[in-house]
Amino acid sequence: MAERWYKRAVIYSVEVDAFQDSNGDGVGDLRGLISRLDYIAGLGATYIWLNPIHPTPGKDDGYDVTDYYQVDPRLGTLGDFVDLIDAANDRGLRVMLDLVINHTSDQHPWFQASRRSRDSSLRDWYVWSDEEPAHKDEGAAFPGEQHGTWTKDRRAKAWYFHRFYDFEPSLNHANPAVWDEIRRIVTFWLHLGVAGFRMDAAPFSIEHPDPRTGSASRDYDRLRDIRRWLSWTQGDAIVLAEANVPDDEILRYVSSGHDNDDRLHVLFNFRLNARIALALARRDVRPIVWALDTAPQLPENAQWATFIRNHDEEDLSQLTDEERDEVFAAFAPEESMRLYGRGIRRRLAPMLGGDRRWLELAYSLQFTLPGTPILRYGQEIGMGEDLRLKQRDAIRTPMQWSDAINAGFSTAPADRLIRPVIAEGDFDYRRINVAAQRRDESSLLLWMSRLLRTLRECPEIGDSSCDVLETGIPSVLMHRFTGPHGAMLFLHNVADIPRTVDVTRALTAEDAPSESFADDDYGALPQPLVTLPINGYGYRWIRLRFVP
Ligand code: BGC
Ligand code: MG
Repeated sequence: MAERWYKRAVIYSVEVDAFQDSNGDGVGDLRGLISRLDYIAGLGATYIWLNPIHPTPGKDDGYDVTDYYQVDPRLGTLGDFVDLIDAANDRGLRVMLDLVINHTSDQHPWFQASRRSRDSSLRDWYVWSDEEPAHKDEGAAFPGEQHGTWTKDRRAKAWYFHRFYDFEPSLNHANPAVWDEIRRIVTFWLHLGVAGFRMDAAPFSIEHPDPRTGSASRDYDRLRDIRRWLSWTQGDAIVLAEANVPDDEILRYVSSGHDNDDRLHVLFNFRLNARIALALARRDVRPIVWALDTAPQLPENAQWATFIRNHDEEDLSQLTDEERDEVFAAFAPEESMRLYGRGIRRRLAPMLGGDRRWLELAYSLQFTLPGTPILRYGQEIGMGEDLRLKQRDAIRTPMQWSDAINAGFSTAPADRLIRPVIAEGDFDYRRINVAAQRRDESSLLLWMSRLLRTLRECPEIGDSSCDVLETGIPSVLMHRFTGPHGAMLFLHNVADIPRTVDVTRALTAEDAPSESFADDDYGALPQPLVTLPINGYGYRWIRLRFVP
């Protein structure tokens, strides 16, 4: 079986404007990021995903783009970007960009030309309706924060479609000229050396809304076109698709059918993400077991990406109302912690009450479930959120590097920072920061780098088949990977009560078990191996076989 690098990657998700400011203007920038590449490489990540870096009015944190061929001047220049790619590649790191092609900013010159004149060649780059669309108030992606999906533009004397905010007009994906431009954007950044893209809002980026019926059809073959452009320009580049869609649709993002892998490469595992949250809230792993047992079968070269928190709200829309209420009750008891009626705008550490053992358990679980794991900046030190900030800004506060002014993020006056640093409570930067955790052998940061280092020795997780084995204990997950590299067994206890697990059904005669990572020193493995103890919130990684 051919190795696929993205199946062994660890993705580190960075918001450039909040990571490291190099010039004291209060905004993180590319040169700041370059200065922290050794940190990211040292942590053990291999693939850096940058949230949008293009020029933007910044009304949706960069997801409102005004020029796809530039770097936002506050972040740096194209020259800085090339330096970033060189410096990253020198350290064995790859770089992924957000590809936001569902919509542009309403300030984008394309939209300005489109609204100005019906005769403009760009008129048809957006979705216009002369009549007031019947379903204009429906289909909003940000319920409660966004008014409908069609807005009247006085200048154009017509209604335009926007799946997201009204300042983010959707591109007309039925127009071949738009796709020709998208091809150019993709090719441009590939030539500058990116190793792939995160395709933002993938389902909406291939849809054709109909103003009369309010429905929208999706043209999945566009995904194959993207795949082809990648293959021609840079053969091993990949696309990671953001598609939070039902099970009967998800495979269409990676395959046209018949087990082909001719569309996109990697899918965020939203279905698993929501069940991890439910399992942690219930202290019962059965939602995870269900998610694994019923997971749509990906074609061989496709892959899941696992995450436990991302740059958006923790999206619980795949759960039933009752399940969602359970997760809300456990992790977002106050209304201010919730968003869009479906999610949680908190980072993981405060969601888990800052409980170190619970946090380790949660990350150990995420990183050992099938797929390529994603770590969001700041998770490795257990950062908190700032609920005074609007919507998702609560979880986009600056990286906490040290106890110096502004957490070492920037030397600008505090009121000039892109967002304030967290400077009170349990997650105050003077308590939670990289420098302090580096000095502390028992810190979450050093634990996380140990985990990532061990993970590198467990390629099975990324590319082998996974079996979930019955334990008879609702709080304990036992799963085994068996593949060409060897076999691994994992035990996770999501409740705070110690247990003893019968592992006989997980083992075969050829296995030679040895422990590689655990929450505790459990001593030598018993011989013969029949049962294993596991602490409350415990986890045990056991190598069963190794194929050199
Ligand atoms: C991104 C959001 C963004 C939205 C609009 C999403 O799917 O994850 O952060 O606001 O797309 O571009
Ligand atoms: Mg700066």
